[in-house]
Amino acid sequence: MSLLDDLFQASRVAQGRAYVPYSKFPVGAAIATASGAIYPGCNVENAAYPVGTCAEASAISAMLGGGERVIAAIMVVGDGPMLVTPCGGCRQRIREFAAFDTPVHIAGPDGLRATFRLDELLPHSFGPDTLERAGASR
Ligand code: THU
Repeated sequence: MSLLDDLFQASRVAQGRAYVPYSKFPVGAAIATASGAIYPGCNVENAAYPVGTCAEASAISAMLGGGERVIAAIMVVGDGPMLVTPCGGCRQRIREFAAFDTPVHIAGPDGLRATFRLDELLPHSFGPDTLERAGASR
């Protein structure tokens, strides 16, 4: 099995475990790291709507909980005809732990639909290195 197959399988399983009683829009995500590990995540909604979390945030938590901090690749899978790309907040969350050229794979139930570099989804972004540069100039 290829990395993409592994990411698709893990994100689909996670999508099936999403807790989405309000939106009825299950999303799965899976992060691959350089160690070869795959960390899945799903969206977890809440009766207090803004407290819900996205699948990508859940996968990032799983990665940190697993002792890793660098996203080598991430896949997001959602239903429907449109590309389910990460929301703006999750693009920033991914940015914290990924490189500009880290692939963000978007899948539907049928499989991979598109691949973007992170900096295509979040150009001219603010990140940890921005803070370092600001500090270094003083
Ligand atoms: N959602 C995600 O989990 N990831 C995204 O990138 C887009 C949106 C979730 C949040 C909410 O539970 C549902 O999809 C509808 O917005």
